[in-house]
Amino acid sequence: MKATAKAPANIAFIKYWGKNDEELRLPANSSISMNLSNAATITTVEFSPRYSADEIRLGNQKMRQSEATRVSKHLERIRKLAKNKLFAKVVSQNNFPQKTGIASSASGFAALTLAAAGALNLELSEKELSILARIGSGSAARSIPDGFVEWKAGKTSGDSYAHSLYNEKFWDLRDIILVTSEEGKKVSSTKGHENAASSVFFKTRLKNLPDKIRKIKNALRKKDIKSFGEIVEQEAIELHVIMMTQNPPLFYWNSATIDIIRQVLQWREEGLPIYFTLDAGPNVHLICEGKEEKEVFKKVKGLSYVKNIIINSPTKGARIIDEESRNNNETIR
Ligand code: DP6
Repeated sequence: MKATAKAPANIAFIKYWGKNDEELRLPANSSISMNLSNAATITTVEFSPRYSADEIRLGNQKMRQSEATRVSKHLERIRKLAKNKLFAKVVSQNNFPQKTGIASSASGFAALTLAAAGALNLELSEKELSILARIGSGSAARSIPDGFVEWKAGKTSGDSYAHSLYNEKFWDLRDIILVTSEEGKKVSSTKGHENAASSVFFKTRLKNLPDKIRKIKNALRKKDIKSFGEIVEQEAIELHVIMMTQNPPLFYWNSATIDIIRQVLQWREEGLPIYFTLDAGPNVHLICEGKEEKEVFKKVKGLSYVKNIIINSPTKGARIIDEESRNNNETIR
C-alpha cells in the first residue's frame, strides 16, 4: 500500500486563467504547456492502519495547515474511488531548490495523484489520472501526459483533461527559468483565478483564444520558433494584463521582471531568437531552442538580480518510480 511517483512541473505557453467551476477546477479556456525536466516533485504515499490521521511532509518540514488540508482532501477523493478508509503518510520533495518561488502545485498534485492511486492499486488510464490531478490543481492535469501537452477545457469534469500533442523528443526546446525572487507569492493562483472575470479584457481574451490556440499549434507542429515565441510572449503579457486589471488587481512582477523583459527584447533585436513567458509570479521563463542555450546562459549569468537559473528541456509526464531512486533526484544549479 505504498508507491512513489515523480511528476514534472510544466510551463504554460497558452495559460489557464479563470475557472467555470471553482470546486471541480473546470477552466475557462484550454491551455498548452511543456513538461520541465529540472523542476519535479517526488512523492511517496503509504496508506496504513498505523496512521490515525494523514501525515504530510514537504522536504523535512511539516506542511502549512491550509496546504495539508488541500492534500488531505485530494487523498479523500482517491480513497473514495478505491473504497478505502485508511489514512496515509505522504512524503514529498521538490528537486528544485526550496526557496525559488516556484511553488509548483502542478508537479505536486500530479505526483500525489499517481502515487496515491498506485498505492491503492487503482488502475486508472492517463485520462482518468489527468482528470483526478486537475481537481487537485488545474495545471496538474497537464503534468500527467508526456512532453508537449494540451488541456482541452471541456464542459464537464469527464471531458476536461490533458493529452500529449507530441512527446518530449519532438522539439529540443528550452525553458530557462530566471529566479528573481525567492519568496513565496502572497496571493495564490487559486485566489487569483476567482477574480479573472472581473477584468474588462477577460471576455475579449476568451473570444480570441481559439484562434490563438490554432496558430500556436501550427507553429509548434512546424517548430517555427519565431511564430511560436511571439505568441508565447503575447500570451504572457495578456495574462498579466488580465491580472493587473482584475478586481482587486494582482501585480506579480518585481523590478527585475521588467528589466529582464527589456533585456530579452534587446537581445532579440541583436539577433538572438529568445522569448519570455511568466506564470503567477515574478520569475521569468526564457524560451529558446537548445542550440541557443549556451549563448543565453552566458548572457543571463551576469545579471546581478538573478538569484538562480534552472535550465529545462521537455520531459516525460508523471510516472511511478522505485522509492530508492528518489535519492538520485538531482538538484540543479
Ligand atoms: C498562471 O493550476 O496553480 O500558472 O487550479 O487553483 O491550483 P489551481 O491553479 P493553478 O493555476 C496556474 C495558473 C498559471 C497559468 C498556467 O499554468 O496555465
